[in-house]
Amino acid sequence: MELEQAINERRSIRGFTKDPVSQETLQEIIALANRAPSSMNTQPWHLHVLTGAPLEQVRRGNTERMLDGTPPSRDIEDYAAYEGEHRARQIEIAVQLFEAMGIERHDKERRQDWVMRGFRQFDAPVSIVVCFDRSLLDNTIAHFDTGAMTYGLVLAAWSKGLGAVINGQGIMQSPVVREIANIPEDQIILTCVALGWPDEDFVANSVVSRRRALENTTRFLGFED
Ligand SMILES: Cc1cc2nc3c(=O)[nH]c(=O)nc-3n(C[C@H](O)[C@H](O)[C@H](O)COP(=O)(O)O)c2cc1C
Repeated sequence: MELEQAINERRSIRGFTKDPVSQETLQEIIALANRAPSSMNTQPWHLHVLTGAPLEQVRRGNTERMLDGTPPSRDIEDYAAYEGEHRARQIEIAVQLFEAMGIERHDKERRQDWVMRGFRQFDAPVSIVVCFDRSLLDNTIAHFDTGAMTYGLVLAAWSKGLGAVINGQGIMQSPVVREIANIPEDQIILTCVALGWPDEDFVANSVVSRRRALENTTRFLGFED
C-alpha cells in the first residue's frame, strides 16, 4: 500500500473480528514504527504487547475499577476537560460516532455501553501498551517522540490491513495495567493501542473524522517573493 493511501484512508477502528494477530505480523509493524525519528535519536519508548489471558485480565481490572467508582489513575493525565474549539471538536467526533451507531442523545444505557467498550479496548485481540522512560517525564520532547512512534505504529498496522485505535480509555486504571503486564516502575505508561482485524460490519469503523482546513492550521511565508 502506498504511504499516501494509508495516510488518507486510515481511521480509528473500534470494532474487530475475533481473528488473532500473529506475533510475526506484530513484530513487522513494530519494526516499522521503531524507525520513527526522535530527539537526538533518544528513542525513549517501550512497548508491551498483550493478547489472550493477560489482555483479558487488563480489560477486567480496568472495567471493574471504572464501574466501582475508582477514580481514573494515569501516569499522564489526558482526561482534563477540553474547552472552546477543542471541546467542540471532541463533541463533533462523539456525535459522528453515536450517529453511526444509532445511539440517541438521551439513551444513557447505550451511551454507557459505548464507554464500557472503550474501557475494554473495544474487545480488540491485541493491546499495545505504549510507555517511555520515566527519567524523561519532564522532557516534553519525549512525549512528542513517543507520539510520533505511535502514529507510525497505527499507519504500519493499516498498511497491512489491520485496524487500530490509540486509546486512553484502556489504561484509565494504569496501576492495574502495570501490575498485570509487569511494567517496570522506570517506565511511564502513556497510552495504549487496541489493534486487530477490522470488523467490516461494525458501522463506527466507517466514520471519517473531520480535519481543520489547512488555511486554519498553516501559514506559508516567502513563497511569493
Ligand atoms: C492520545 C490519543 C488518545 C485517544 N483516546 C481515545 C479513547 O480513549 N477512546 C477512543 O475511542 N478514541 C481515542 N482516540 C482516537 C481519537 O478519538 C481519534 O484519533 C480522533 O477522533 C480522530 O479520528 P481518526 O483516528 O479516525 O482519524 C485517541 C487518540 C489519541 C491520539
